[in-house]
Amino acid sequence: MCLGSFADASQGLSKEIEQLEGLFTVETQKLKQITDHFVNELEKGLSVKGGSIPMNPTWVMSYPTGYETGTFLALDMGGTNLRVCQITLTDQKSEFDIIQSKYRMPEELKTGQADELWEYIADCLMQFIETHHGDVSKMDTLPLGFTFSYPATQNYIDEGVLQRWTKGFDIAGVEGENVVPMFEAALAAKGVPIKLTALINDTTGTLIASAYTDTKMKIGCIFGTGCNAAYMEDCGSIPKLAHLDVSPDTPMAINCEWGAFDNEHLVLPRTQYDVTIDNESPRPGQQAFEKMIAGLYLGELFRLVMVDLHDNHSAHIFSGQDISKLRRPYTLDSSFLSAIEEDPFENLSETRDLFHTKLGIEANPAELELVRRTAELIGTRAARLSACGVAAICKKKGYTSCHVGADGSVFNKYPHFKARGAQALREILDWPEKTDPKEEDPIEILAAEDGSGVGAALIAALTLKRVKEGNMHGILHPENFH
Ligand code: GLC
Repeated sequence: MCLGSFADASQGLSKEIEQLEGLFTVETQKLKQITDHFVNELEKGLSVKGGSIPMNPTWVMSYPTGYETGTFLALDMGGTNLRVCQITLTDQKSEFDIIQSKYRMPEELKTGQADELWEYIADCLMQFIETHHGDVSKMDTLPLGFTFSYPATQNYIDEGVLQRWTKGFDIAGVEGENVVPMFEAALAAKGVPIKLTALINDTTGTLIASAYTDTKMKIGCIFGTGCNAAYMEDCGSIPKLAHLDVSPDTPMAINCEWGAFDNEHLVLPRTQYDVTIDNESPRPGQQAFEKMIAGLYLGELFRLVMVDLHDNHSAHIFSGQDISKLRRPYTLDSSFLSAIEEDPFENLSETRDLFHTKLGIEANPAELELVRRTAELIGTRAARLSACGVAAICKKKGYTSCHVGADGSVFNKYPHFKARGAQALREILDWPEKTDPKEEDPIEILAAEDGSGVGAALIAALTLKRVKEGNMHGILHPENFH
């Protein structure tokens, strides 16, 4: 197809495109307003009264030095996979060896019975240990860092009360409960030779793993199925920890759980599509920020826009076609949008093929143009809103220059996510335009080290070390630390 005819064809839906641009574009002023509100909310979350962002203390009370040593297991209960690793922190500064295995996380477990989940996890751990250590009866128990990436209140580092499931999990009998005894009971029932040393969040792991190799790293972020960040706070700025009676400059990593930002819907520019996502989710009213940003929801947002433009607008896209596949909730994930944004062809032939194979829809040139623009708008909004959270932490801490370690499928795979986020940070923080494109930004969001592997091991190591030195804050089971 020649360019001219394509451009002509797209005229047909320009009104719809314009409307979507109006709905999904977040201007600089709005970004700044969101960021300022975010700073206040971070502070509220640290107060005794609390706010909607949990700001959970994690009992990680120092950065790594790079000289940590030892062998640790790490377990990551993510959304799609279970990953088990054995990490050896070597004598060489900031270096490690790692062996790992992945196990599928069966979809039915995510909404099934709690016992089945814990048993499955214990089986995977046992299998890993048997493969790598042989006879379990002859070995010493190994310390384990367990990455449990859901909001959990931690009165202790070896305890975690699940506040609520996020990211589409919905297993009865776990919310409001301490997950550690459930996990330990499953290990004990199978005789798995492991002692839990630390329960960690993926963001905290990301922060610590990244700081192990780069001392400029001050924030750990996940932009994946969910979206969240952790950073190091001073205990003196955490009124809800005043009872600890530690010196005000004692560090404490905070798992923000910023997905819950603006659950009150005061500043985020929500569209009707965001409202539908929320209403139809297992936890309406929760994770307002996350639902506009995270990978779990990007494809669904796109789908809702398409269905709406088919059903309710004068345009009637995909008119006369069977859109039953498109009508199925959560049928598109963020990789579908990535593929659309990555289509290198002017006539969007890859996108056309994608619609054909995945949805059984034949999209005409005008529709393809609309599809591409919608993906760009949704992806750009996600990146720009994410930057507000990063900017808010930097503003709160007074960081004018630092590195931010980021991980997750959206950060690593979604096209232009990094550049769009960096551009938004520039606007929010009023940086002058770069004179040399190679110049570093004052605050750079960079690919993180492996948080749920190396980070979990480091946190286990840091915890064992501080217990040895007599810092028993947040230790529930000292017997596990010898
Ligand atoms: C969700 C979880 C949070 C996690 C994030 C990224 O927001 O609540 O604990 O850090 O997803 O995985």
